[in-house]
Amino acid sequence: MTDHSHTLAELTLFEKAALLSGANVWETRGIPRLGIPRLWMSDGPHGLRKQRGDADHLGLGESDPAVCFPTAATVANSWDEELAEEIGTALGQDAASRGVHMLLGPGLNIKRSPLGGRNFEYFSEDPELSGRLAAAYVRGIQSTGVAATPKHFAANSQELRRLVSDSIVDERTLREVYLTAFEIVVRDARPWALMTAYNLVNGTYSHENRHLLIDILRDEWGFDGLVVSDWGGADDPVASVASGGTIEMPSPGFDSAHAIVEAVRAGRLDPADLDARVDELLTLVDRVTAPRDPDPFDEPRANALARRAAAEGAVLLRNENATLPLAAGTSVALIGAFAERPRYQGAGSSIVNPTRLPTLRDAIVQTQLTLAGFAEGFRLDDLPDDALITEAVALARTADVVVLALGLPAADESEGIDRRHLALPAVQVQLLRALAETGIPIVVVLAGGGAIETPWIELTASVLHTYLGGQAGALATWDVLTGVVNPGGRLAETLPVALADDATARRFPSDHRTAEYREGPFVRYRHHASAGVTPAFPFGFGLSYTSFAYEDLSVTEEFARFTVTNTGPVEGSEVAQLYVRRSSPSGFLRPAIELKGFVKLQLAPGEQTTVEIPFGERTFRVYDVETSAWQVETGEYEILVGPHSGDLPLAANLDVEGTIAPRQIDPALEPYVTADVRDVSDAAFEALLGHPIPAPEWHVPPYGYNSPLDLVGRSPSRLVRFAFGFLERAKRAADGLPHPDITTLFIYYAPFRAFNKMTGGAVTREATDAVITIANGRVGGGFVALVRALVSGRQRERASRERFARAAAGQRPPAR
Ligand code: BGC
Repeated sequence: MTDHSHTLAELTLFEKAALLSGANVWETRGIPRLGIPRLWMSDGPHGLRKQRGDADHLGLGESDPAVCFPTAATVANSWDEELAEEIGTALGQDAASRGVHMLLGPGLNIKRSPLGGRNFEYFSEDPELSGRLAAAYVRGIQSTGVAATPKHFAANSQELRRLVSDSIVDERTLREVYLTAFEIVVRDARPWALMTAYNLVNGTYSHENRHLLIDILRDEWGFDGLVVSDWGGADDPVASVASGGTIEMPSPGFDSAHAIVEAVRAGRLDPADLDARVDELLTLVDRVTAPRDPDPFDEPRANALARRAAAEGAVLLRNENATLPLAAGTSVALIGAFAERPRYQGAGSSIVNPTRLPTLRDAIVQTQLTLAGFAEGFRLDDLPDDALITEAVALARTADVVVLALGLPAADESEGIDRRHLALPAVQVQLLRALAETGIPIVVVLAGGGAIETPWIELTASVLHTYLGGQAGALATWDVLTGVVNPGGRLAETLPVALADDATARRFPSDHRTAEYREGPFVRYRHHASAGVTPAFPFGFGLSYTSFAYEDLSVTEEFARFTVTNTGPVEGSEVAQLYVRRSSPSGFLRPAIELKGFVKLQLAPGEQTTVEIPFGERTFRVYDVETSAWQVETGEYEILVGPHSGDLPLAANLDVEGTIAPRQIDPALEPYVTADVRDVSDAAFEALLGHPIPAPEWHVPPYGYNSPLDLVGRSPSRLVRFAFGFLERAKRAADGLPHPDITTLFIYYAPFRAFNKMTGGAVTREATDAVITIANGRVGGGFVALVRALVSGRQRERASRERFARAAAGQRPPAR
């Protein structure tokens, strides 16, 4: 890495501090006199969202058209690292061709609950799968000279109150479940940047969390890149610089720069920390401006890749009587509003303005199927409409088969809000029931970026869960339905029979100050498998038009070896999965099984292959809080291999000589041993945490910088409560909309801090404090202070801007 001491010596204190916050919504600051360019950042994870004109971070403003790939939830079902790397490369090429230096993705938070509002943007409930796929994206993106920015670090698993929520999670679970995916990405793909989460982790905001950013990320994993805050997620600029948060976005004007300068002058911030952060920025500049010649972005090629990815990510859940694939000439009644108005991505900052968007209805003409007709079947606003059902039933009777496009309403999947349930809208189920009475086989094509309950499944012949297929999703769906592509998708998450079966069902999302991760390591399939709660479709599940046999497992200290044979009539892909179970008694709470390896295979009919899955650093390790280190407990382990977590036909025992002797489980953790973690007592959770449970409530007023605005209704001032009524009403109106108004929700749940952080310098910290004074009931004094602060802040902001611009341009010797 380049030595930046010369540049650091040339920069003034004010310039250094100013480099650590953005110039606007998407760019860093540049210093032309020292050849430091501005860097452009853009979302996002499944297609470029480069905004012109009105810039916002919530996906509201239009962005330039770009190829919309399937979202991470879909690509994860492919379990295909090569595919993920190809997508990353295409995203990088697109970014490079538009002058974007930093791509804000991939997102790899663990899907702790099936209700997570951004689950569609994340890969999996499992860290091994999430980490390996995210690493592949990062490799692809960075091969083009563009920085990848894996996000959101860390424990960002709920959307509700995301700017103020404090994730309370025990250290071992944090390491093993929530950090491991990031560790894999950092160690294996060496990202040049990383985005912190909005939330706090165990009492400290992620962007100023020294334990996460220095102890773990840099010191343990060797990260040497830049850490950017989520948009508005930075809290105290001085604490951030001291704790490893490099840069805050979007621009808070020069407010944070002044705070940093004052802290250095007052001896509250070590100048070495400031230099370290600036050095990280300069390193990123070197990396993304190094001469490179990536292949140019090719829209048709990327569109074809998006189609392949969508087909690979679709999961066949059911296929009675081999209804699928549909033979050429089959007459199809195409039913369902989504066949004309597709669900292909979720809402929020990841939203892409697609270059093209054929629908199921458009795309059927490219198949050899016969379209008997199309009927809408249900209204997208979920209002009942019997006439639509009658029309659909009449159409169904004229066809050989019904292809029924059902799915989650768009409003269910958005950044900023979590889902409330896992059910399909009643109007869709009603339609399915009516169609089932015709006796015509029904092929349901499900769209939606997450888990859906399927109590209606017996009414169907086949179900293909396409997740969110991106802009070429409709073409891919027909590819799978007609057998052009043999479905190879395997669920990257558990589909429970009912939401109530999930480990977190009774406490997710938390509406409190804290989100308590009481279930510990028993997340999703780790809970189902350990507590014996059978899911509708297990983690890793997916059908194929062919069949596979697993045989001959042998294990050594280094690897597991077995054979897989395609025993069916057609070529197909399979994901061979390896899980580990501790069979000797253990001093650690252990999920019954944990995914530790997988291989994606492509096999011709009759073909057999020998698979070797190596054991590695992560195969047997546990995080031991006693020694604050990863350890391997000596003893016997069972190596389980098969097609999915619910079907592991091969098993072998292995004695492992570990780093620690087997221990006794702490009796205080006994309640966890059955893994029925849907209700966990305070005592058990405290034992898991190793300290008292932090108070879950906000004690406001008095309000502070990070108190959430939705609690302003408790203000002692009647005037403030009256004014708050407007926000309440706006929020109620937003709740009632078919498409969530995420701006209103963002503001409603934001802390006071957002005034300071999200207004581009218009509202300084001083002005924000005056607003807080008003909310605390000192209306007159606060108001005067506010007006003064706004006026003086504006002057200071203008002066700072001019001073920075002049010095940066080298027009005047910089004042030191
Ligand atoms: C999201 C990030 C995104 C950023 C910029 C935030 O609201 O949480 O994922 O990258 O906005 O758009």
